[in-house]
Amino acid sequence: MKGIILAGGAGTRLHPITKVTSKQLLPVYNKPMIFYPLETLLKAGITDILIIIAPENAGDFVRLLGSGKEFGAKFTYEVQEKPEGLAQAFIIGASFIGNDSVAMILGDNLFEDDFSEAVKNFKSGASIFLKDVPDPQRFGIAEIDADLNVLSVEEKPKIPKSKYAITGLYMYDNTVVEKAKNITPSARGELEITGLHDMYLKEGNLNAVILKGKWLDTGTFESLHEASCFAREKALKQSHLQVTEMRIKERLV
Ligand code: G1P
Repeated sequence: MKGIILAGGAGTRLHPITKVTSKQLLPVYNKPMIFYPLETLLKAGITDILIIIAPENAGDFVRLLGSGKEFGAKFTYEVQEKPEGLAQAFIIGASFIGNDSVAMILGDNLFEDDFSEAVKNFKSGASIFLKDVPDPQRFGIAEIDADLNVLSVEEKPKIPKSKYAITGLYMYDNTVVEKAKNITPSARGELEITGLHDMYLKEGNLNAVILKGKWLDTGTFESLHEASCFAREKALKQSHLQVTEMRIKERLV
């Protein structure tokens, strides 16, 4: 399975900070935001990765991430000229995807879950990952039944049918490229990812998984701050753990 990190967009909700840089380059505690979705893909075993960026700060992304060698991966870059929707990524990335299946992650999404099993077990159709949220109007929403069958999907509904947000990590079979070409732009002129999910749903090929760990979309000041606090907590726990392990080893020697 190949990977795409979508890091385009104007980041208008984070003005004035994003007037001079990209949202996905902003710090989340001690790392640039894009490192988190990148680490999620790497941890899942995906190392052939297309990074889609806006033209304004394209050079900064290449300077930061390079060829991928440093991460044990291979990076390809493409530019999304205008923020014309998440599903456009599959048109931009068509030749990169080739005949493979693909996982796409949004450059401003932070996940605690490990997706290696989901990647290993993926066969066909589309997989979406859901999280119960208090503010469902902000997200793509999936209505599900008790057996986790998806009944409907809607993009930022005014009256949401459920509290399950469709988070920014998706897995698709190769038909995603053709499907993306057939989406008609929404009222706001974008190729919506929800349109794509609706096509998979109508075919009976949309699978939903509920996330166990924390998930954050860092597109607002509030969530950006929360993400930094969370990343700090995790990093400190990790270093405490390392110190404890070191002490145990020292005692054993
Ligand atoms: C996008 C998607 C939405 C999804 C969200 C997850 O919204 O359109 O379906 O729930 O990402 O982060 P955006 O944050 O770009 O407004």
